[in-house]
Amino acid sequence: MGGGLRRPALSSFSRGVSDSGSETRHQQHRPMIAVVQVVLRHDGKSTDDYRKMQTVTLIPGDGIGPEISAAVVKIFDAAKAPIRWEERDVMAIKGPGGRWMIPPDAKESMDRSKIGLKGPLKTPIAAGHPSMNLLLRKTFDLYANVRPCVSIEGYKTPYTDVDLVTIRENTEGEYSGIEHVIVDGVVQSIKLITENASRRIAEYAFEYARNNQRSSVTAVHKANIMRMSDGLFLRKCREVAEDYKDIKFTEMYLDTVCLNMVQDPTQFDILVMPNLYGDILSDLCAGLIGGLGVTPSGNIGANGVAVFESVHGTAPDIAGMDLANPTALLLSAVMMLRHMGLHEHASKIQTACFDTIKEKKVLTKDLGGSSKCSEFTAEICRRVQDLD
Ligand SMILES: NC(=O)c1ccc[n+]([C@@H]2O[C@H](COP(=O)([O-])OP(=O)(O)OC[C@H]3O[C@@H](n4cnc5c(N)ncnc54)[C@H](O)[C@@H]3O)[C@@H](O)[C@H]2O)c1
Repeated sequence: MGGGLRRPALSSFSRGVSDSGSETRHQQHRPMIAVVQVVLRHDGKSTDDYRKMQTVTLIPGDGIGPEISAAVVKIFDAAKAPIRWEERDVMAIKGPGGRWMIPPDAKESMDRSKIGLKGPLKTPIAAGHPSMNLLLRKTFDLYANVRPCVSIEGYKTPYTDVDLVTIRENTEGEYSGIEHVIVDGVVQSIKLITENASRRIAEYAFEYARNNQRSSVTAVHKANIMRMSDGLFLRKCREVAEDYKDIKFTEMYLDTVCLNMVQDPTQFDILVMPNLYGDILSDLCAGLIGGLGVTPSGNIGANGVAVFESVHGTAPDIAGMDLANPTALLLSAVMMLRHMGLHEHASKIQTACFDTIKEKKVLTKDLGGSSKCSEFTAEICRRVQDLD
């Protein structure tokens, strides 16, 4: 395995992960403590609760971001998830030498907590600064974008039994940002593919497969046309596959994957691919299960940093109207809990969310209902508490 690769945690929200897994095993071997003095603080939590709490940097974002973030915080409180939120705003600022950067207090918080939960951020067109999402990816070297796409019971789409994960290389490829004018009327955009980044994402995909009881990895490419760039990506996938004989490896052209995906998505398990293909294919797969409003996502970085996020936008047309659906951010937060080893809390919240959708009584407008964001949130909180 290459240097700096963090073992992909159990961040899928659907499959096979033993929900009592690590917490229970850990508890079984915990030594008995005879006397514990519990001091309650003003918020009703004991000092012991605080000691076990883990900090997460919360970036509520723009538009509907603050509403859906507040919904997630409420549901986490109802589930007594041991998370201490550290809220930070991010907006691009110019640092020394005119370089764009995220505000130092947001960077400092992420460097310390290593885990972020992020709402949508608006990208002003032609405002002169880069996309904040891109800046975050670059700042924390968030090299793997992971999106589990799983059919949601009770939310009807033309497809059933979808259960796949797209893993997208997030740092280079067509999005390396190297573009220039050759002569008037002719521009060039460089697709950068490196051996290191290709190996790193392939290793991530196979490790993820192993840790999440998945059986196959498909490398998506166009090496027949882009022989050098996609050729290198594919070669690294093949090499890494040699070290994971327990996982089936296949390779497929991007166009063939698109055709097969819309015909029968159930044939796919894990798909790994360069940046642009991943951007497009991950949205296509989200469409199979009901769209971006219900699709969670995680960005895994070097040095143990990970940022989980909803992938829809800021929805300016409904911002501040209590109409937003918090499901995508909530399921991203469930992925985050699994990544942090908090499987029981993750499972409880996921069950409450899916049961609410399955019952169809309290749904936001985009899910076919007429409830407010606050009513949908309250229903999930009620179910979470009932599961205690
Ligand atoms: N990850 C991100 O931060 C991200 C992703 C995409 C777009 N954006 C930004 O968001 C802004 C608006 O983009 P857009 O209008 O193209 O896409 P959008 O996703 O914000 O909105 C598209 C449509 O989907 C609806 N919608 C989106 N999320 C919803 C939710 N959670 N609940 C209910 N309805 C929801 C909106 O009301 C709108 O009708 C832009 O500034 C764009 O750059 C950010």
